[in-house]
Amino acid sequence: MFTHPVLTPFAGLARKPRPRASVWCDRRYTFQTCQHSNPRQTNDRITMKFRILGRTGVQVSPLCFGTMSFGGDADEKASAAMYRACRDTGINFYDTANQYSSGRSEQILGELIQGHREELVLATKCANPTGRDINARGLSRRHITRAAEDSLKRLKTDRVEVFYLHQPDPATPLEESMRALEDLVRAGKILYPAISNHSAWQTQQAIDIQKAHGWAALQAVQPMYNLVKRQAEVEILPMAEANGLSVLPYSPAAGGVLSGKYSQQEKPTIGRLYSNPRYKDRYGEAWVHETAANFAAFCKNRGVHPVSMAVAWVGAHPAVTAPVIGARSVEQLQASLDSLKIDMTPALRAELSALSRTPPPATDRLEEVIQPK
Ligand SMILES: NC(=O)c1ccc[n+]([C@@H]2O[C@H](COP(=O)([O-])OP(=O)(O)OC[C@H]3O[C@@H](n4cnc5c(N)ncnc54)[C@H](OP(=O)(O)O)[C@@H]3O)[C@@H](O)[C@H]2O)c1
Repeated sequence: MFTHPVLTPFAGLARKPRPRASVWCDRRYTFQTCQHSNPRQTNDRITMKFRILGRTGVQVSPLCFGTMSFGGDADEKASAAMYRACRDTGINFYDTANQYSSGRSEQILGELIQGHREELVLATKCANPTGRDINARGLSRRHITRAAEDSLKRLKTDRVEVFYLHQPDPATPLEESMRALEDLVRAGKILYPAISNHSAWQTQQAIDIQKAHGWAALQAVQPMYNLVKRQAEVEILPMAEANGLSVLPYSPAAGGVLSGKYSQQEKPTIGRLYSNPRYKDRYGEAWVHETAANFAAFCKNRGVHPVSMAVAWVGAHPAVTAPVIGARSVEQLQASLDSLKIDMTPALRAELSALSRTPPPATDRLEEVIQPK
């Protein structure tokens, strides 16, 4: 077991009581608690509590389905099956990016949403290269505008609700990018600007630029956040709470590391940590795998799939609106969907947090967050 249990989980964050049922005054929850809005209900054991996206009034499911695997790890048939499973569970929130499988993810999602587009909240992203041209990338107004228009064509829709700057572009002043988002909002092509993979100070700068000009405000951030990647707790999550932003964390199962499969005797023959060197590096530290093994053992003792527990742990942070889940098959996906059945009490979450490293506070004054013995 990892030895950092002296730190309080969520050190420095004001704890808010988590409403259990119908509470309309908490911006994260709707006034209504219901099974779900989708009449094609097949899993009546899952109760879907919709939440409010940022300060928009738009209601989103407490899980967002990320379609990064569409057109890559998942072919069209597997993608359609996962999409159906999400719809049947009541998920109305879907995430993609222009970069995923070079646009195939958006195309496949665009086909699947036909006939019920108005029941969905769609998010896509731009910044990563879309071609060999020197300007087919980044966050210039030139590229953002073209990227958004191309995404709408692939998604076969006239607008997306959430549009992210996928990652920072050091070559472009932030004001240029925020103006481009404002113009897209005014043109009705995107509804809510959002940011992913930016630091808290960069996000705050973006917010301040928008405020100074009276431009449409950011409504969401999409940071990486899971039991072995907790840096977001230090600055990003408190910044989001302070600004009323939704937090939609990606990789809640650490790209599969928290499934425990990489620490088993019989290692799997396929998996992102084998096929993607970036993920191998990202999750390469020995303590990460040690933590994943301890976490998997903890879950096994309680008869819960580790991916279900990992997603529930992310979703239970007070600042989080909805984890963005991912899978390559319906079988894998089911574990993430089952996270909705877990009652992640503060005590259980603290127990799980203690298996991992709690990041030091922004001030590095460790003595202020050590639990009294
Ligand atoms: N903004 C960004 O920069 C960014 C970055 C990454 C992702 N995202 C978004 O977030 C979504 C989710 O991210 P993610 O895919 O990294 O989430 P994740 O839930 O941490 O990882 C999903 C991966 O874990 C493995 N997995 C999932 N369930 C499993 C199970 N039951 N048993 C064994 N392995 C399992 C599968 O990979 P293998 O089968 O390959 O092991 C699956 O593709 C993406 O689809 C995308 O929309 C955004």
